[in-house]
Amino acid sequence: MDHFVYREGVLSAESVFLEEIAARFGTPCYVYSRATLERHWRAFDEALGEHPHLICYAVKANGNLAVLNLLARLGSGFDIVSVGELERVLRAGGDPARVVFSGIGKQAHEMRRALEVGIRCFNVESAPELERLNDVAGALGLRAPVSLRVNPDVDAGTHPYIATGLKENKFGIDIESAPAVYRRAAALPHLDVVGVDCHIGSQLTRLAPFQDALDRVLALVEALQAEGMVIRHLDLGGGLGIRYREETPPSPAEYAAALKARIGDRPLEILLEPGRAIVGNAGVLLTRVEYLKTTAHKRFAIVDAAMNDLLRPSLYQGWHEIVPVRPRTGETSLYDVVGPVCETGDFLGKERALDLAEGDILAVRSAGAYGFSMSSNYNARPRPPEVMVDGPQAYQVRARESLDQLMAGETCLPDDGA
Ligand code: LLP
Repeated sequence: MDHFVYREGVLSAESVFLEEIAARFGTPCYVYSRATLERHWRAFDEALGEHPHLICYAVKANGNLAVLNLLARLGSGFDIVSVGELERVLRAGGDPARVVFSGIGKQAHEMRRALEVGIRCFNVESAPELERLNDVAGALGLRAPVSLRVNPDVDAGTHPYIATGLKENKFGIDIESAPAVYRRAAALPHLDVVGVDCHIGSQLTRLAPFQDALDRVLALVEALQAEGMVIRHLDLGGGLGIRYREETPPSPAEYAAALKARIGDRPLEILLEPGRAIVGNAGVLLTRVEYLKTTAHKRFAIVDAAMNDLLRPSLYQGWHEIVPVRPRTGETSLYDVVGPVCETGDFLGKERALDLAEGDILAVRSAGAYGFSMSSNYNARPRPPEVMVDGPQAYQVRARESLDQLMAGETCLPDDGA
């Protein structure tokens, strides 16, 4: 459920007409709904109910400070993968004691900063990372709380670029080798083993892979406990899918019920790292039709948003619904909705039945996750603004990038005196 609905024939975010937002802030423009965001976070939190838990929103999905701040106000934790994401969380008022740090390439300076601010846990992804973390913590006179991210070798059944839990993937530690790496972690003087972590992929639409991964992880926990190790939490990562088109992913409640059924009364706190399921359907990308171009083969709607603004269609053949903000009543035609970037792969959607005229505003739906956060400046295109709607109000929470900002930090070589 989201709060983007038609009112008086015009698509709205909560009670603001998206046409008004396009007029006020220009296009392309990302628009988020506070009520949707909060509703989705609460759905996870409430689904875990009385079971000790922490929802660590995956910052990579959408790291806008306003998004992070609203979630921090709800008491959210955060899953980060860089010191940049950590600083975003801190600046947005997030509690470092609720931060988990994932990622396979953590640098020493990133570990240092995370230790200094006192994060909740490092999700360590390799044996050499363990040694480095121990050294960094030792030099600071601190102990680092760690989980090992184990790779349970299950097929998430998702797009190969976003499946992470298979043996051939670069993530985590093979579950068979995990006990030996845990022994090493327990023996290192500046580490505290506190949990087990896994994340098997993103946009999962079935429960079975999550359940298979959990069974394997629980067997590992039992083996570690039998050796006397204290495992306090299970971090099951993110990955719950959303509906872009006709997918019917489990709800957070169904997902949580399946996890709780398997974990039973084991005294393990559950950590989850959802990103997409919280913010994906809480955002749209507004774009304006610049030209309608008809060739012998096709009709193109050339719009002012492009792959640099929303990369998912180009990179993963991600399907996003594209709807007119003010639908016309005439006949529809099939259009490829494409951007101005000089790449054949620059499209937002193909063969969409639309009735269009130049100047129409379209909304690309389900763009709240991995939309702005994956945007770039390709073709020297300034990145779009971000707007957060809260009931009847629209707040710009990030200004459109200026051309000066685009070129800031660049210099020419000195004159060669010719
Ligand atoms: N935790 C870890 C360790 C992750 O690597 C990810 C996502 C998440 C949590 C959050 O997963 P989510 O709940 O959002 O599925 N750019 C791609 C998705 C990449 C996901 C990367 N990792 C896309 O646009 O589909």
